[in-house]
Amino acid sequence: MAFAKDFLWGAASASAQVEGGWNEGGRTPSIWDALIDGHIKYNDTPAVACDTYHHAKDDAALMGEIGLRSYRFSISWSRVIPAEGKVNPTGIAYYSNLVDELLKNGVTPMITLYHWDLPMWVYRKGGWLSEEISDLFADYAKTVAEALGDRVGYWLTFNEPQVFVGAGYNRGTHAPFLQVGKVGIETVTRNILLAHGKAAAAIRQYAAKTPKVGFAPSARCYTPTEDTPDAIAEAKRLTFEGSITHTGNIWWESPIVRGEALDEQKHFLSEDDLKVIHQPLDFFGVNVYQSRNYLAKGEDTAQRRAKWGQPRTQMGWAITPEVLYWLPKFYYERYGLQILITENGLANCDVISLDGAVHDPQRIDFMTRYLAHLKMAVDEGVPVIGYQYWSLMDNFEWDKGYAMRFGMIYTDYANGCRRVPKDSARFYSEIIRTNGENLPTLPLNW
Ligand code: BGC
Repeated sequence: MAFAKDFLWGAASASAQVEGGWNEGGRTPSIWDALIDGHIKYNDTPAVACDTYHHAKDDAALMGEIGLRSYRFSISWSRVIPAEGKVNPTGIAYYSNLVDELLKNGVTPMITLYHWDLPMWVYRKGGWLSEEISDLFADYAKTVAEALGDRVGYWLTFNEPQVFVGAGYNRGTHAPFLQVGKVGIETVTRNILLAHGKAAAAIRQYAAKTPKVGFAPSARCYTPTEDTPDAIAEAKRLTFEGSITHTGNIWWESPIVRGEALDEQKHFLSEDDLKVIHQPLDFFGVNVYQSRNYLAKGEDTAQRRAKWGQPRTQMGWAITPEVLYWLPKFYYERYGLQILITENGLANCDVISLDGAVHDPQRIDFMTRYLAHLKMAVDEGVPVIGYQYWSLMDNFEWDKGYAMRFGMIYTDYANGCRRVPKDSARFYSEIIRTNGENLPTLPLNW
């Protein structure tokens, strides 16, 4: 088997990380505008970011030139609904135009409704701690589905609940910088799960074109340490291990995908809640960067390997291409849903060289290894429908500001956010053109 002919080779981004135009066209602030003072490296802010707010046409054309078949982007809730009960036509027009430009360039749009930029007006009502939020989110989903659902076929409700809850509500390192404790986390969890269910239903009800609906969890995966059935079974067990914390996969997946509450969720999720939460999904989205075996700290397990000189990205994340082989297999076996890789990529110390180009052999090497492993899974028959490289362009990396460059396009912030496609963008073009057929056959990385 090879990659399907219509395999969705693409790239991803998120509104707060790329858009800028934070107070333009009727948009009101999000928690990532209003609450970040003193929390971001070098005091960076997302006020301008990559200024995609003013570059929709050129960016879509550039994606077309690279040959991308899909682009996963998120909607800024406060651009569309800047205040309670108020829809902003200018905000809708911005996204509607972006969708048109993408389609004109042969790029399939994929929309994420929530990639962490909670409107301040919702936050003031209690944000994810408020019982009202799931209905507000469903109204927002309806508005977007009505406006764009005639042209957009792929929808993701949430990006990585694990991360925005873990970092934003437990550790306090991401906006809104809270530490709400166990009961608070349970409340936030229930509200997010209900919001997911209500939004998924609203998308199906109001999108004119039959939608494909999923979400994009931070999909953790342990990988086997040796080629034995026991090691493989142990990696799978750890991957889906029950967890009383929000970081566990199944904390979110059991209610969303299976309609089941974990034992430790039963006191705050009712059977009625589960009916709302458990909506049919068309695919299982996965954001994945590394095997969990190599976490620098935290969970200590038999699977964990400390390797001297383990190659790592600038984020400190272990380079473990084998995760793109095992993860789709494990998740497909468990949930029986087609897999969409919604994020994968690396941060690298990229510079514009004296010749004016951005040479990033590390990224080319990373993509080659990871995609070669993904191809092994596809060759074995695992139904993977697409791969969205993170990220389309260098952008605002949350608490790390602009210090991390994940893009296949270099963003020259000092010069009007000029876009400079990196060598990896050309490399990716070739992968897409040949539909991954020229990827090398590598031995499975252990
Ligand atoms: C997030 C992105 C982020 C990327 C790299 C993912 O956790 O969805 O917003 O930029 O990882 O850290």
